Amino acid sequence: MKKLWGGRFSKQPEEWVDEFGASISFDQQLASHDIKGSLAHAKMLFQCGIIEESAYENIKKGLLSLQQQEQEGELSYSVKYEDIHLNLEKLLTDNIGPDGGKLHTARSRNDQVATDFHLYVKEETLLIMDHIEELQKSLLNLADEHVETIIPGYTHLQRAQPVSFAHHLLAYFWMLDRDKERLQDSLKRTDIMPLGAGALAGTTFDINRNITMTELGFSGKYPNSLDAVSDRDFAIECCSNASMIMMHLSRFCEELILWSSEEFGFIEISDSFTTGSSMMPQKKNPDMAELIRGKSGRVFGSLVSLLTLMKGLPLAYNKDMQEDKEPVFDTVKTVKGCLSIMTGMMNEIKINVEKMNKAVHQDFSNATELADYLAKKGIPFREAHELVGQMVLHCIQKGCYLLEISIEEYKEWCPLVEKDLYDALSPKTAVERRNSEGGTGFDAVRQQIDSAKSKMYISKN
Ligand code: ARG
Repeated sequence: MKKLWGGRFSKQPEEWVDEFGASISFDQQLASHDIKGSLAHAKMLFQCGIIEESAYENIKKGLLSLQQQEQEGELSYSVKYEDIHLNLEKLLTDNIGPDGGKLHTARSRNDQVATDFHLYVKEETLLIMDHIEELQKSLLNLADEHVETIIPGYTHLQRAQPVSFAHHLLAYFWMLDRDKERLQDSLKRTDIMPLGAGALAGTTFDINRNITMTELGFSGKYPNSLDAVSDRDFAIECCSNASMIMMHLSRFCEELILWSSEEFGFIEISDSFTTGSSMMPQKKNPDMAELIRGKSGRVFGSLVSLLTLMKGLPLAYNKDMQEDKEPVFDTVKTVKGCLSIMTGMMNEIKINVEKMNKAVHQDFSNATELADYLAKKGIPFREAHELVGQMVLHCIQKGCYLLEISIEEYKEWCPLVEKDLYDALSPKTAVERRNSEGGTGFDAVRQQIDSAKSKMYISKN
């Protein structure tokens, strides 16, 4: 069988070489973008007088029919034609005859594949942003309900100070918001068109790149043909942004896993997002959360694959770059899947307010309150800190908590202490009062929810 590029060859490649070099098994995902790109290119060729009207009409008719068949999943591809570009060109030519061969005038597969990939990454970036918003909405709803639910806040995974549960959830809202901003920003560099760069050096045909740019909905064009065909920064950025999202989801999942353990018991993940054990009948495992945490590995791996792939490549296109697609496809699928699962899990999560409340009453996370109380009575904070440290040690030895020490005992320890101390030491007061900007106080958290809500409406242009 003769290759579409076979003119210069006197010998056919070995069959297994064809197999090794082919990308059709995965780049068929780019089919719809490739057809769109070809429709725009053909229109431009006609409008610039490079191909005649009848050829254009013929090509257009053939491409629209391929588009229809592609949507219905009716196209079948062959490894003999290497990749999606040559497969579609072959199908087109079989369908409309020699006019099909005019489509590739003033175009190379190098600017063609780069264009397809840009269209793909742009479309998927917008979809990932939508997925993030769904999760943000779910977190906001939950935060709304739990402003006054208190949980222990940790540093070093040791009880530190009590915080509003909504505050904790909102921390993830803001991480996701930055993720969305990063994606939005990356669009500036993704939404530019390589088409018209030819193989590497441009073309002698009098093309008009503004026509294809407008047809394809790109906001700009690469100003340099060498850069246009050899740039994969946008794909790397997509994987980098996805890695950041996965790192955030993974941290969140780690907390969900901990919180749903018997030891914490703060939450219960819905049955729909957990699984049982084949041996231990009592088990309810947070599999989905674990899997999201685990899948962060493959996404980080894809980022490293792409960086490594590109780092030694001379300009311009090199066949190595065919290896750029699978990591991105896998990343996009994984990150969208994880965001959806996470949203479903959060929508159905059961919050064990009682357990959380019990936890904050059985620890020393109000020790800072006691030190602050003494500082407000005029004792230098450093001294107050030392005193409270001794009091905590005393409690540990006695087997009680700060709220269980009698007023008489407190007065012996420090005469400045009065009865209002007990109110100051209650976890609710401790949280309620921390209304510094961005703090965990109930009013501050309500303000935070308001700004989070207004952020949701201006996030996309
Ligand atoms: N299948 C190729 C890829 O994905 C398309 C570009 C091939 N260009 C070439 N000159 N071999 O990178």
